[in-house]
Amino acid sequence: MGEKVVIITGAASGIGKALSTKLASRGWRVGLVDINAEAGKQLETELGPNAFFAKADVASYEAQVAAFSAIFTHWGRLDAVCANAGITDRSSLYMVPAVGLDLAAVDSIPPPPDLTATDVDYKGVLYSTQLAIHFMRHSPGRPGGKILAASSIAGVFPHPTLPEYSGAKGAVINFVRAAGPVLRIKEKIALSAVCPGLIRTPIFRDEVWAALDPRVLTPVETAVRGYEQLLDEEGDAKAGEVILCVGSDIVPVPAPDMGAGSDVDEDSGAKMMEAAMEPLFRALHGTSLMT
Ligand SMILES: NC(=O)c1ccc[n+]([C@@H]2O[C@H](COP(=O)([O-])OP(=O)(O)OC[C@H]3O[C@@H](n4cnc5c(N)ncnc54)[C@H](O)[C@@H]3O)[C@@H](O)[C@H]2O)c1
Repeated sequence: MGEKVVIITGAASGIGKALSTKLASRGWRVGLVDINAEAGKQLETELGPNAFFAKADVASYEAQVAAFSAIFTHWGRLDAVCANAGITDRSSLYMVPAVGLDLAAVDSIPPPPDLTATDVDYKGVLYSTQLAIHFMRHSPGRPGGKILAASSIAGVFPHPTLPEYSGAKGAVINFVRAAGPVLRIKEKIALSAVCPGLIRTPIFRDEVWAALDPRVLTPVETAVRGYEQLLDEEGDAKAGEVILCVGSDIVPVPAPDMGAGSDVDEDSGAKMMEAAMEPLFRALHGTSLMT
């Protein structure tokens, strides 16, 4: 275990910090990535030689390239990535008066929504995944690895308070279910998603947390355990799996079945969606989905 290297994005606070601290204490070498250099450097100092900090805004591919490259150069391998960095909606879709917009006249067009949450929560995960695949291919001695993407309970159950966040976190789940089985076959990489419940971290201001009944909160340890379970799983059995970490429970979230639509093959019972997959994949990627 002492040889293994994990990159954790959004490592300087909250769940990422707790996870980085736990994994470093277990002998993992932890590449800390965060936009907040001061907090990231401080955590690097606290964790000692098992930690290495590289600053990056995960919404920037170039910044993630630089951070992943620096960590890979430092330790010479990559076994796992936890794409944990995330933020909530930066503007209000609902345009209620409380957010200060004067939209009384029809030609008073609302300003463009600030979609940084989509860039960080969804694009950031895709960038981390692409770079994880690249560096895992070049990691010595051990094909494959683990990629754990941060979704949320708000990605499983639609969350009216944070509609953009809820959409981005739901997109992470569908991305993991779509790419997970392919990466397992082609790269021996297990891509899965972790969906924490509400955990009191700096993601919200204190006043927001104060508005909630403490009984709805999940301890940060449950999310850390969820990540550890997936990291500790031998092999790639959990590829494409989505787990919900709520209260003290960690439970798999089943994917909807592909039963909708007509049977294409009466003998196998294959449905339209299933039957289209291999030919579509071959037509678009020039290679089989199955090998
Ligand atoms: N706290 C919760 O209730 C909760 C629930 C479900 C899911 N999550 C998810 O867990 C993850 C961690 O959340 P948290 O509660 O620990 O939040 P947090 O605010 O405590 O920590 C997030 C970290 O990400 C960093 N970060 C933000 N934007 C970044 C960017 N563009 N590039 C790089 N780093 C960036 C921040 O600097 C911070 O260190 C997020 O993806 C969040 O959506 C949190």
